[in-house]
Amino acid sequence: MKAQAATFQTLPLSPALGAEIRGLDLSRPIDAPTVAALRAAWLEHLVLVFRGQELDVESQARFAGYFGETSDTQSPDERSMKHNPDRRVLLITNIRENGKPISFLPDGELQFHSDSAFLERPLMATVLYAVEIPDRGGETLFANAYRAYEALDAEVKERLAGRRAFHVYDYDTQVKTGRLDRDGLPQAVHPVFRTHPETGRKAVYVNRLMTEEILDLPPSDSASALETLFAAIEHPDCVYEHRWRKGDLIIWDNRCAQHARRDFPADRTRLMRRIGIAGDVPV
Ligand SMILES: [Fe+2]
Repeated sequence: MKAQAATFQTLPLSPALGAEIRGLDLSRPIDAPTVAALRAAWLEHLVLVFRGQELDVESQARFAGYFGETSDTQSPDERSMKHNPDRRVLLITNIRENGKPISFLPDGELQFHSDSAFLERPLMATVLYAVEIPDRGGETLFANAYRAYEALDAEVKERLAGRRAFHVYDYDTQVKTGRLDRDGLPQAVHPVFRTHPETGRKAVYVNRLMTEEILDLPPSDSASALETLFAAIEHPDCVYEHRWRKGDLIIWDNRCAQHARRDFPADRTRLMRRIGIAGDVPV
């Protein structure tokens, strides 16, 4: 297939972050200058949305490959391998077989998080494609973690500078597990504020879904500091809400953006295909 030497339009989606890209058909390759321009738009807007795409796994993986190396999914198990043998892909769906979800993160609301923050090397980016979506609910909220950092009081930035936080998550229960019950689950320690390796900007890197505590602080101080940081991420000035349509493809930067999912009706099918892009150890 010949690569498209396409020009595209970049339409900002909100003051917080996000841009829609028009004029590209991602089922076909795109040429190197276009990829470079897309990457620049992505670093500026954090989240890029492409509407009306018809993508198989190979096209989606090729697109992901323009940004970095695709990452195999963690801990595949029998249920997910049966319905999706391609380890690059994680299906996020509430589809069930014999009453059991066929894959991960099946139901309902998900609090703000950065993908796989509980790993030593969390995903740099996530490429999510909407195969089937409910007619209502299941929107994704994206938050600009640079903005959240920049909006903090100078005193808070100073007090938490250089601190590190502990992250853990249980995909099966979709909740934090608590200090006593975290053995055997993936877990990692990362800076509270991370510096984006490409832009050099600082971003809040703790999240309500996965961050358990800030290390070396009394528990009550850790809890109140985390609440301050979560509130900064969730401030309306930092958030764009995306209403999905079938055929949407979104790439977001986990190094400087967080996302959350709204609840949706249990009797409506939601099927998303996720491909992750490998990342560095946060600093
Ligand atoms: Fe996620």
